[in-house]
Amino acid sequence: MSLHAAVLAGAGAHGRTWAKTLSSSNRTQLAGWVDPRDGAVESSCEELGLSGVQSFSNVTEAISSLKPDFIVDVTPPDVHCETVCAALSAGIPVLGEKPMAASMEQAAKMVKASEDAGKLYMVSQSRRYNPQICGYRDLVRKLEGAAILNADFFIGAHFGGFRDEMPSPLLLDMSIHTFDQARFLLDADPESVYCEEFNPGWSWYKGDACANALFGMSGGSRFAFRGSWCSDGLMTSWDSEWRAIGPKGTAIWDGDLDLRTETVHQADGFFSKVNHLRPKVSSDGFLTDFHGSLSEFLDAIDSGSTPQGECHDNIKSLAMVFAALKSSKEGRRVAIDEVMV
Ligand SMILES: NC(=O)c1ccc[n+]([C@@H]2O[C@H](COP(=O)([O-])OP(=O)(O)OC[C@H]3O[C@@H](n4cnc5c(N)ncnc54)[C@H](O)[C@@H]3O)[C@@H](O)[C@H]2O)c1
Repeated sequence: MSLHAAVLAGAGAHGRTWAKTLSSSNRTQLAGWVDPRDGAVESSCEELGLSGVQSFSNVTEAISSLKPDFIVDVTPPDVHCETVCAALSAGIPVLGEKPMAASMEQAAKMVKASEDAGKLYMVSQSRRYNPQICGYRDLVRKLEGAAILNADFFIGAHFGGFRDEMPSPLLLDMSIHTFDQARFLLDADPESVYCEEFNPGWSWYKGDACANALFGMSGGSRFAFRGSWCSDGLMTSWDSEWRAIGPKGTAIWDGDLDLRTETVHQADGFFSKVNHLRPKVSSDGFLTDFHGSLSEFLDAIDSGSTPQGECHDNIKSLAMVFAALKSSKEGRRVAIDEVMV
């Protein structure tokens, strides 16, 4: 099997995770690494024990020198648009980190760049590549039409740094994961949202670190998100805690290993009689996290299939974030179409 040559953009904390992913895959070769910070690529290569990786300070130079098969974009969100558009306009497919862009205008430009070039731009939503969420989705499907989906995200994260200063840190920096997971679980698209953000007195963040959002989803279901990044004690999983309810019963997931369902087998009396199920999900052979999204991306460029996270689809997860922000700012329910450019 011939290896796919990759250029990686961004040698920050998460860029190093991607360098490990690309250099440990038996389908890819990390040919070049780009970062404008002096010495960032060299010191990262040394730290990871990587040799033979060429260093560049901008992505256009790396593309013209190496003519890679694809780019992995792990730059900061406000740099995604220029990086992705530069690669696509040179005819190179891109696997990029979330969130797609820092604004809906930039995201629309990136989708158009993918169309104009006829090349794939996929956003890696790594939390979809988890055996438990796939097992939970199977349980949700057994409810035969879940119309209620709740996610609780309560973490006391003392990051320090930019998140402590930015506006709306929870919605802007984290919620895309949970919102995208909700679309995955319901197999539905967002239609509208009412959201309130707030910052309790004890919060160590400058911007609002808490939000309650109620989304109307296609097919009539409701997705309710309750989240906080300033909640010490009894924290939830980073994957949130979930409850889905449909005509056949209820399924819950603690965001970790515990999945449970109670499905109706006899609907008479005050309470319906239910069957309990607590399946163990096997992770044998499952490509998790970044290995999962990389594998789906490579399959797509080899076969022409449409992967999860393809930009025309992923922009709908990003729109959930920007519509929630708009709703919170304007104090009213916002249709998702209002933020689509
Ligand atoms: N999926 C996940 O679980 C997950 C986790 C962490 C971060 N991320 C995402 O990964 C991205 C990067 O996050 P991070 O934590 O590594 O940020 P970071 O700030 O640690 O690193 C970003 C790096 O990009 C470099 N950079 C800036 N402009 C560039 C350019 N034009 N070309 C090439 N490199 C450039 C910076 O010098 C820096 O080294 C973000 O979009 C973030 O949301 C995803």
